[in-house]
Amino acid sequence: MAKITASVYTSHVPAIGAALDLGKSGEPYWQPVFKGYDYSKQWLKDNPPDVIFLVYNDHATAFSLEMIPTFAIGTAAEFTPADEGWGPRPVPKVIGHPELAAHIAQSVIQQDFDLTIVNRMDVDHGLTVPLSLMCGQPQAWPCPVIPFAVNVVQYPVPSGRRCFELGKAIRKAVESFDKPLKVQIWGTGGMSHQLQGPRAGLINKEFDNAFLDQLIADPEALASKPHIDYVREAGSEGIELVMWLIARGAMSDVAGGPAPKVAHRFYHVPASNTAVGHLILENK
Ligand code: DHB
Ligand code: FE
Repeated sequence: MAKITASVYTSHVPAIGAALDLGKSGEPYWQPVFKGYDYSKQWLKDNPPDVIFLVYNDHATAFSLEMIPTFAIGTAAEFTPADEGWGPRPVPKVIGHPELAAHIAQSVIQQDFDLTIVNRMDVDHGLTVPLSLMCGQPQAWPCPVIPFAVNVVQYPVPSGRRCFELGKAIRKAVESFDKPLKVQIWGTGGMSHQLQGPRAGLINKEFDNAFLDQLIADPEALASKPHIDYVREAGSEGIELVMWLIARGAMSDVAGGPAPKVAHRFYHVPASNTAVGHLILENK
């Protein structure tokens, strides 16, 4: 059977992608950001997954105000990096895993979550920047990726509780797939940031670090945090953090297994307008 071996959490700041693509990652401003991922790139090589289930948000790129799925699973054979206004990022196309994606859709929908099935979509910085941070600049991404898009852009957005419960359903789905695949689940976006309005530029280090502590030690309690707390404390775009609860809900300890190993933890401010947070948790 397939199993979830680890979860990875990371911010997706678009300027990080631009820094890499424009050859600026060695500049003093960016060096400390990329240094936080040196361990992670080696870890990914040492712990290669067969498939990455990548929870991210689309930023009105593939979707728009015309169509707003709360949860959308990418079932296509491949996904093209999106043109977000200045040309597509020069990164490899994303190879999907239609067979596992279709199985997860079947299982999770039968567990009473409404997923939108997407057979064609382009993927924006929400998906490609986490891949770049974890993999560097390869000719091809190291394995197939199943994109799983969550609406955190247009209200109403799903609650942390629903995201956490969805993670549990995804774990059951993966573990009922009849092939011995090692699957990593990644939760992306965040940490604190606000891009618009009078509070633009808001960063809250205390909130972010408490979030990381609680995500590791007591995700069940963290899942009860209401939207308004994210928005008040972590800024309007800090709500992206609910996606981390999907990945956390898919870890074995939540289903009665042993606590995960914290393989890596990193936090850095600033990167563009955003606090960068990053965690790697391994199932034992
Ligand atoms: C920034 C951060 C984001 O999460 C995003 O989607 C766009 C911009 C920023 O820090 O500028
Ligand atoms: Fe974002």
